[in-house]
Amino acid sequence: MEPSISIRHLDLSFGAVDVLKDLNLDIGKGEFLVLLGSSGCGKSTLLNCVAGLLDVSDGQIFISGRNVTWEEPSKRGIGMVFQSYALYPQMTVEGNLTFGLKNAGMPRAEIAERVERAARILQIEPLLKRKPAALSGGQRQRVAIGRALVRDVDVFLFDEPLSNLDAKLRTDLRAEIKELHQTLGNTMIYVTHDQIEAMTLADRIAIMRGGLILQLDSPKEIYNRPANKYVAGFIGSPSMNFFEGVVDLGGAPVFSCEAGDFDLSGYEFGAAGPQGGPAWLGIRPEHIAHGPDAAACPVRMEATVRLVEPLGSDTLARVQVGERLLWIRLDGQSSIRPGDTLTIGWHAERANLFDSATENRI
Ligand SMILES: Nc1ncnc2c1ncn2[C@@H]1O[C@H](COP(=O)(O)OP(=O)(O)O)[C@@H](O)[C@H]1O
Ligand SMILES: [Mg+2]
Repeated sequence: MEPSISIRHLDLSFGAVDVLKDLNLDIGKGEFLVLLGSSGCGKSTLLNCVAGLLDVSDGQIFISGRNVTWEEPSKRGIGMVFQSYALYPQMTVEGNLTFGLKNAGMPRAEIAERVERAARILQIEPLLKRKPAALSGGQRQRVAIGRALVRDVDVFLFDEPLSNLDAKLRTDLRAEIKELHQTLGNTMIYVTHDQIEAMTLADRIAIMRGGLILQLDSPKEIYNRPANKYVAGFIGSPSMNFFEGVVDLGGAPVFSCEAGDFDLSGYEFGAAGPQGGPAWLGIRPEHIAHGPDAAACPVRMEATVRLVEPLGSDTLARVQVGERLLWIRLDGQSSIRPGDTLTIGWHAERANLFDSATENRI
């Protein structure tokens, strides 16, 4: 992987508060990297360090092989798009797009060419003479992206660009950003707290918590093999179901908990190999089989339906097993009702085990 951006031993503190601690990250040329985490985990801070909007406390940042740690934002070859659009209200769309280029002394013909191209890609040609007040939120955000696009930068940085838009527009513009990336092939770093945005857009996701990267992997890998219990619970909605128990490697591997003993043959242990002792078993709602499908599962139990949430495309149900409540995902056409009893089950391959003490995947 040819790195486009390398972050080395980055520390950032606000006064006595350490926000980023010895953070290391390599982002490949043309990669779409998403920084995902709950509010306050340090995503914007990290992005602002790359952009040069914050002075780092320690460490280095390289862009395209150049050490830019102390370089001005405008010299870094980056374009940034914020949640708040940050357009100049008194200028037209065209003015907003050309302002930076004119200031940089770019020849008129080239400016016109770049604006024409950006407007075409983003489908904002009919809007060029309007002012931001006469645009919808989605159009304003397209203009904000356009402003990064005309600068012909190597790297795009997005900080929650879709958070101010309503749900339908968010989905549309999300697909457009993905298409833009497929067309341009630029390196992109995209900050969000929205797991759907992260899963749909990213080549790789960096999941952050408390200023640390907990896992850096493809969306598929993060979904299938979360590195720890926090990541497992963060990705997926409803969240993964967890059972607290013990892994017993005495004979064939078994997970024992109050709901029963679950055969673990077929479970793919991590690189360190099988590990016994106190653990959590996690299973996603969509990996719990029910009815006839459950009959073929080596792990089975009886459940009582407590709550049903029809979503159209599928149906969510909260079911009770002993004292435990679990979420399961059923077909959208399911006619189950509260009070029904179901046989549920799963295959050990679909489960994940986490050490009780470290919460790391076993
Ligand atoms: N200028 C600042 N001064 C002091 N603390 C800040 C400042 N900016 C951010 N923080 C703190 O740093 C942490 C990370 O913030 P931020 O990077 O904005 O989080 P995120 O973008 O993931 O929501 C938060 O705890 C926040 O309160
Ligand atoms: Mg933020």
